[in-house]
Amino acid sequence: MQPKGMSRRTYLNMMGAGAAATRLSAADYTSEQDRERRMKWWHEAKFGMFIHWGLYSVLGRHEWAMEYEGIPVAEYEQLAKKFVPTPNAARAWAKLAKAAGMKYMVMTSKHHEGFCLFNSKLTPYCAPKQAAGRDLVKEYFAAARGEGLRAGLYYSLMDWHHPDGALCAKDEAARRRFVDYIHGHVREICSNYGKLDVLWYDVNWPLKAEGWESERMNKMVFELQPDTIVNNRNGLPGDFSTPEQHIVASKDRAWEACMTMNDSWGYHASDDAWKTPKTVVRNLITCARQGGNYLLNIGPKADGSIPAESVRILTAVGKWMDRNGATIYESERCQVSGGQFWSATRKGNTLYAHIYFWPGTVASLGGLRNKVLSAKYVATGQPVKFVQDDFRVRLLNLPAMPPDSPVTTFALTLDGEPRQDMKYVRVERKREGV
Ligand code: GLC
Repeated sequence: MQPKGMSRRTYLNMMGAGAAATRLSAADYTSEQDRERRMKWWHEAKFGMFIHWGLYSVLGRHEWAMEYEGIPVAEYEQLAKKFVPTPNAARAWAKLAKAAGMKYMVMTSKHHEGFCLFNSKLTPYCAPKQAAGRDLVKEYFAAARGEGLRAGLYYSLMDWHHPDGALCAKDEAARRRFVDYIHGHVREICSNYGKLDVLWYDVNWPLKAEGWESERMNKMVFELQPDTIVNNRNGLPGDFSTPEQHIVASKDRAWEACMTMNDSWGYHASDDAWKTPKTVVRNLITCARQGGNYLLNIGPKADGSIPAESVRILTAVGKWMDRNGATIYESERCQVSGGQFWSATRKGNTLYAHIYFWPGTVASLGGLRNKVLSAKYVATGQPVKFVQDDFRVRLLNLPAMPPDSPVTTFALTLDGEPRQDMKYVRVERKREGV
């Protein structure tokens, strides 16, 4: 039966009835049912790779160098002569993403600098028509697909290169030209590379959604890519929110925290503020616990090679994911937040306790309101002895040093959906004694 609140058209489409007759109209793509269908893989995936690559990679001084350093357009354009990446450099990114346990990739097709990595009929300022001489977006898709990864594109609406990129805010003729240009690009990236899994808009300065004609933009996107998902940076809510450089969960909608591994998105040769693999794993756990995704960035050099530190960090994260990925993928929002030395994720009634500061031979987890039925190490499957009272469950006979790195994870099977109540501990614990 057609579920309540679902349009007949959506229902028929979901049931797979006669494709042509049931093609969704663009309006249906904003329905919750269709969103759920389009976003299923993404919610399960949890972990993706962001890639910032462009002419700024030649400079190696952050992707905002053009603006921060006040570089004139004509001078900046010269970089296109030096941007000649090694063929199929993206293959190494896709391999690394896969080894790190990432399930999807999102690459900058055009950043604020205005240079397109894809072949555009609308401008000569694109990789195939400059020294690179190749369609780098095409290579990227081939690489991602080759590793069985989902592939999305980032696209910046703000454009520091286009003559109408700022003028559009005060001149209607310029706005018309510029919006046609931007919509034209979006049409190209949605039409020329097969399936696009994510469209990741960025900075909508200097217009608002009305000025960008963002409703029409999204409608076109969904007509061309009925299965895709879009973010919220073209001035509309889209399918998911995009907290940047920090993890803030949205309560009632999908969200993805994007983050750099050092302090720059684009390649920055001297930026040495690298996160440790442990910080990355903890961030991933924090996202998964609150029902979000983690999109972690690499900034390849101009030749396409990945900075050695990024490779080192992601390789370590990948080893941890090989043993513990099951506690992340397809996990659900988890009410249990853990304590000062641990955090948690969950699937159904299984609670995954992630211990990041090892307490020694006994780990005491306070405030769990469920009965623990069994406990084991996730990495080895080895059972763990435990005792439980009203206020704590204690995992016993643990080794003095953490057996896994950078985080050791236990799976606890509970008698219900995991719930923690620290206030219960504070209020109810008997105050007897001296
Ligand atoms: C910001 C920055 C940009 C980066 C993006 C990633 O908007 O301007 O450089 O690409 O965030 O989220």
